Amino acid sequence: MRYAPTEYYENTDEEMISQEAFEFSVREDSPERLSARSPEGYKGLAGFHKYWGKKPTEAWRLLIERLTKPEDIVLDPFLGSGLVAKECTDLNRRFIGFDINPICLELTELYLSPPTHRELKSALQSLHKNLFPKVNSLYRLSTGDVATHILWEDSTIVKVWKKSGRCRVELIVDRDELRTFEDAHKYTPHNESNFRFFENSRINSKSNMEIDQLFTPRALEVIDRILDEITKTTGNTRRALRLILSAGLGQMSCMVFAVSKRGKARGIESKSIEVGSWVIGYWRPMQHFEVNALNCFENKANKLLKALNDLGPSRKASITADASVFFQNGKDCFLVLGDSEKLLQKLPAESVNVILTDPPHGDRIPYLELSEMWNGFLGYESDLSGELVISNAKTRNKDHITYTQKLLRIFSDCNRVLKNDGVIAIMFNARSTDHWESLHQLETETSFSFVGCYPMQYSAGSVVQDNRAGGLKSDYVLLYTKGLNSNNIQAISDHFKDLPSWSRALPARVSK
Ligand SMILES: C[S@@+](CC[C@H](N)C(=O)[O-])C[C@H]1O[C@@H](n2cnc3c(N)ncnc32)[C@H](O)[C@@H]1O
Repeated sequence: MRYAPTEYYENTDEEMISQEAFEFSVREDSPERLSARSPEGYKGLAGFHKYWGKKPTEAWRLLIERLTKPEDIVLDPFLGSGLVAKECTDLNRRFIGFDINPICLELTELYLSPPTHRELKSALQSLHKNLFPKVNSLYRLSTGDVATHILWEDSTIVKVWKKSGRCRVELIVDRDELRTFEDAHKYTPHNESNFRFFENSRINSKSNMEIDQLFTPRALEVIDRILDEITKTTGNTRRALRLILSAGLGQMSCMVFAVSKRGKARGIESKSIEVGSWVIGYWRPMQHFEVNALNCFENKANKLLKALNDLGPSRKASITADASVFFQNGKDCFLVLGDSEKLLQKLPAESVNVILTDPPHGDRIPYLELSEMWNGFLGYESDLSGELVISNAKTRNKDHITYTQKLLRIFSDCNRVLKNDGVIAIMFNARSTDHWESLHQLETETSFSFVGCYPMQYSAGSVVQDNRAGGLKSDYVLLYTKGLNSNNIQAISDHFKDLPSWSRALPARVSK
């Protein structure tokens, strides 16, 4: 195994890794700066799962409020976690969403139709009652103490902690006992799963990588038992529990960094070792934590419970996977799993008022490869061939040219389904100026006209921003309209010109 580059180091409030931390944390950053830069729209329901490339709800709300009116139909062919769908239905807009990643559809349905706080709480109570004794026995030492955190140096355990009140206490454990803890029996999960990893040095995955290289047998057994308990539930509660499990997987794995020497750069080096988090990619650090897997699950569950409690009773959106039912029966949402290039063909011409979308940004995030751990445990198979992304995994043949061509084909069909004078708002950035090619060709290849753009300032500190090869410091929202109507173009621009840094031209660094 290789080790993660240090720039991915980030500490969060132990296992409660959050999207804010992933998106905004930078080494040696202060909590004040972090919170100042963290939009509220990554919290609550939106904060409980670390789906890649999530954009905060405020970014969507601003566009929905400025570009649409109630009952309008909004389309996003690259749905992601589905926060845009939630904002649309909350604001009484109808919504069409597609994504090729199975977990995205699940997340979207959770946001649109969550279980009640009471339903989820009662399911969690019975899960806890059934699992707690067995899981405790897996983490119990001969002293009777139950380990919450185990610190590994490669394949040797060096420290064990338990929880005492709100504190962590290091246990004095002799070497023989640690050895028995190291040699936990192999465990073969009986729940169906399918993992497919690619040779991709960027995210440190190997084609021969097995899931038990990323998890201890103890953790695999707890995950399997949680899945058994989940099968006893149904409907929205079952979906929520499966997503809670997937949200906790990173922290249950051997990919949790042990963070030491914090503050070194400021000359106030800390002696303590803190529990970091799982970060982008499949890095198993030399020094890593194994966190009690049931605790990880329950931490995520509590986060979702709190979000549901804060949300209060909410209307459940009506969802269909059938285009004709959506258009004829006035359902709230039309959601389908699959390749947008194919799915857009199901939509009639000029049937959509506005398109709000955030496509993959070149090679910044290989979504399906990075979701393999989630989708694998949940038993989903992904259509890797249809994914629009540039990947370092050579066997996937996803390069700059296939990316540009496919994105243009999708945008061209977006143009067909959009009403005349309708707007498409595209959130974009890339690691390389080459990856802007499809946007450069958008006006010549389709009848979209560029209106203007503005930066999404909050994204400037994201750890996935990498502007060395020409990308921009922050993501941008780029507005285009269908047709050449200059009055319409001017009217849209006037509607956005109050935004700081609104510009009628592309940023110089990426303009053609
Ligand atoms: C930048 S992310 C969207 C994130 C989303 N805006 C959010 O806030 O969560 C891009 C999405 O495009 C999806 N995608 C990639 N290729 C696709 C395709 N051919 N058809 C549909 N979705 C695709 C990925 O699975 C990923 O979820």
